[in-house]
Amino acid sequence: TKKMILDLDTGIDDAMAIAYAVADPEVDLIGIVGSYGNVYVKEGGINSLKILELLGATDVPVYLGESHSLTTDHFDRMPISAQIHGENGIGQVNLPEPKRQLEAGSGVDFLIESAKKYGQNLIFVPTGPMTNLAKALEKDRDAILSIGNVTFMGGALTVEGNVNAYAEANINQDAEAANVVLTSPLKLTMVGLDVTLRTLLTRKETAQWRELNTAAGTAFADIVDYYIDAYADTNSQLDGCALHDPLAVGVAIDPSFITTLDLNMFVATDPDHYGRTIGDQARINDPETNVKVGLTVDRQRYLTAFMDHLTGLFKQ
Ligand code: BDR
Ligand code: CA
Repeated sequence: TKKMILDLDTGIDDAMAIAYAVADPEVDLIGIVGSYGNVYVKEGGINSLKILELLGATDVPVYLGESHSLTTDHFDRMPISAQIHGENGIGQVNLPEPKRQLEAGSGVDFLIESAKKYGQNLIFVPTGPMTNLAKALEKDRDAILSIGNVTFMGGALTVEGNVNAYAEANINQDAEAANVVLTSPLKLTMVGLDVTLRTLLTRKETAQWRELNTAAGTAFADIVDYYIDAYADTNSQLDGCALHDPLAVGVAIDPSFITTLDLNMFVATDPDHYGRTIGDQARINDPETNVKVGLTVDRQRYLTAFMDHLTGLFKQ
């Protein structure tokens, strides 16, 4: 089985990404690296521990990564994050304090060590800002370039951003880091708003979790209903909430959920277009490309897999 590491700013859809990875028999979730974004890095790490305990996955270590972007010295959480994910990041649901602790080592080093150990057999899925990956690339380029599969949630090519017309939230947190990653030789799959906004979950599905009458089913129904309501309040065109981060996990395991465009990209860092993920004209005729950009998604097949994974896990 392939080894998987998630890099999360846990967050509601990040929590669903954890559940998908825990439930999938084809991958072995060997660790979580924490990032900042939906919440501060420490809160996100604690949320990951709480979710893992709720799911009975108490053997997955959680490391903290970077607490702010490459170009700043601290991170200020945006008010919209509390609105969408709740003040605590997980829909204001009070999960028990975790019995386990965060790991002492750095998330960046954990990623590098795992890359050295597993190389091609490692799947890395960042669903927050890409600061940890950029740092790891700077620190040990060879190790990171040996990773078999990097599938990230972030960016937008065929639709506008969700922070502003140009920028998607994860990229917007640290466009410089994203640019380091996208312009590196790493082979990447981009699961951006192009596909995640087409992959929606509604209260019809969360009701099925609630009916299970288990701790995990009820907690996830409460957490995700908060997210669905927040979407209704802020994103009125969509019927439901977008499965951003769990779609990235699904695609990392089974790329056939999406169709992709092969492209060389860069991320704009100038103030007027900050965070824009777009084709790099300087490399437009280069036959070698390093990013597969998700453009369409087989949403029905994915949604079925998503529900099979999560419902199966919540039943236990
Ligand atoms: C992304 O931003 C975060 O708020 C979500 O967790 C997701 O990773 C969507 O733009
Ligand atoms: Ca996220």
